[in-house]
Order: sequence, then structure tokens, then C-alpha cells
Amino acid sequence: MTDTPREHAEAYAWNKAAWDERVSAHWDSAMYRAHADALRQGKPPLDEDLTQLAGDVHGKSLIHLQCHMGMETLGWALLGARSVGVDFAPNAIDKANTLRDELALDTRFICANVYDTRDHLDGEAFDIVFVSIGSLCWLPDMSRWARLVASLLNPGGMLLLNDVHPVVNMLGDHDHPPGFAVTYPYLGDERLVLDDDENSYAAQDTVFQNNTMAEWPHTFGTIITELVNAGLQITSMHESARCVWPAFKVMEETSPFRWDFPGKWRGKLPVEFTLTARKP
Ligand SMILES: C[S@@+](CC[C@H](N)C(=O)[O-])C[C@H]1O[C@@H](n2cnc3c(N)ncnc32)[C@H](O)[C@@H]1O
Repeated sequence: MTDTPREHAEAYAWNKAAWDERVSAHWDSAMYRAHADALRQGKPPLDEDLTQLAGDVHGKSLIHLQCHMGMETLGWALLGARSVGVDFAPNAIDKANTLRDELALDTRFICANVYDTRDHLDGEAFDIVFVSIGSLCWLPDMSRWARLVASLLNPGGMLLLNDVHPVVNMLGDHDHPPGFAVTYPYLGDERLVLDDDENSYAAQDTVFQNNTMAEWPHTFGTIITELVNAGLQITSMHESARCVWPAFKVMEETSPFRWDFPGKWRGKLPVEFTLTARKP
């Protein structure tokens, strides 16, 4: 990671503009409408493996970093947690607050860059830090992120991290023949500036204006080593083919809001990972 502070500021500005613009289409999208409707019916839009790993969250404190429109954050509140969500896109936090008020749940949302989270908390620490799908690639510095996570946890507290598998970050669409191919580097943790996707995972038919985004693919080596360096103990690591968006053009919708590769690759390639870690 060799970017300058100026390059970070530039990248955050691109990413924030792109995410903020995507919020209104996401709010209206089939995927997020299904999540909001589930919440209205008292069902958290959280996969069962995640709720099982978290255990009984009743009365526990939880902070969700990069919470987007806060639907998962509110899901934890439905399960009895006192939850806090953090995201730097003002439109996303507006939607999160609107839904929180409608559902009258015990959740607080903070509009901030994830690295500045501490500045918005009064020394508070949490029983659970939750990070969900589509988060780490927007962060340049895993060492700083891991130290933040450790500082946010109470002793005995748990990090529950569910994100895109580093293998997926390496792949791109291949048009002729239709498929996928190694397109991006795996090693290096270097910044990628991408401007060729004018849609989004939840709003595939909407054309957006702010499409320059910076990403930092991180290897498992980096993620795990930085968590260990920050003093956390890794307690589990699971890889799965679950895919909640059409990540590649060749993917097929195998059940509502679930996609997979076709043919011999069905169920055979990792798309997500879930890692838990504990603060001693
Ligand atoms: C893919 S979305 C997360 C989606 C979420 N898992 C869900 O299902 O709703 C990524 C989120 O990260 C946020 N984000 C990206 N970089 C950030 C940063 N540096 N600080 C805070 N939020 C950030 C974006 O605004 C966006 O809401």
C-alpha cells in the first residue's frame, strides 16, 4: 500500500460520490425492497449462518461498519442487539434513519468515513463488530482497519466479517467465449481505479453518472495477518459459493437473489468468506 494521503482523499471522494448516487436506485431495487419488507415483517435480512455464528445477541452491543442503508444493522436490532451503523454516504444514512424511525428500533446511524468511526463514539466499545458483503475492497489500509476493529471491541468481543472472497476480486467477465477470466492482480494490495461499470449490483438497469471508483483488493494473507497483528484471535474461517448478486454475466439466478456459475463450476467456486475473530 503505497498511496499518498492525497490519493486516499481523492479515492474517498470518488467512492463517496458513486455510493451516494446509487442509494436511491438501491432503495427502489427488488433486492433491497425485499430486505426492507422482511424487516417490516419482523424478519432480519441476515443469513442464518451469520446469526448462528453471532449466537444470542439479545442485550449485546453491535457496530456494523459500512452499513449502507442499514438494513442488516436493523436486522441485528430486531434480534435484540443495541446496534450502531456507520457509512460515509449521507443518502444511505438518511434511508437508514428513515427505516429505523418507521420500525422504531434501537439503532443509531453515524455518517462517517469508517476510519473516523472512533471520533463519533464517546469511548464506547462493542460486543460485536459486524462487517458485511462488499466492504473491505473500499479500504486502502488493512492494518489501520484491523486496529480500529480491535479498538472497537470489548474484551471477549467478536468480529463477524462476511465479505467477497479475494478470488472473486481477481476475476472479470470474458466475452468471447462467454465466461470469466483472471483480470486483476491478486498480490500487492495496490489501488485499482475502475470506471467501466455504470450500473450496480442491485440496480443493473440504472445508468449512473459517478462511475470512477477506487478499490484495494486484499489477500487473505493481509486480512488475517493484520487482524492477528492487532491482537485478535481468529476463531473460524469459512468459504462458500453463496452469491447475492450477479457478479459475472455468465452467472445464473439459482433461487431468488442467489446467483451461481453455470455448468461444472456450479457450487464449486468460492464467492464469499466468513471469518470470526475474538478479542482476548
Ligand atoms: C456494498 S455496500 C455494503 C452493502 C451491505 N453489505 C448491504 O448488503 O447493504 C458498501 C458500503 O461501503 C460504504 N463505504 C465505502 N467506503 C467507505 C468508507 N471509507 N467509509 C465508510 N463507508 C464506506 C459505501 O458507502 C457503501 O454503503
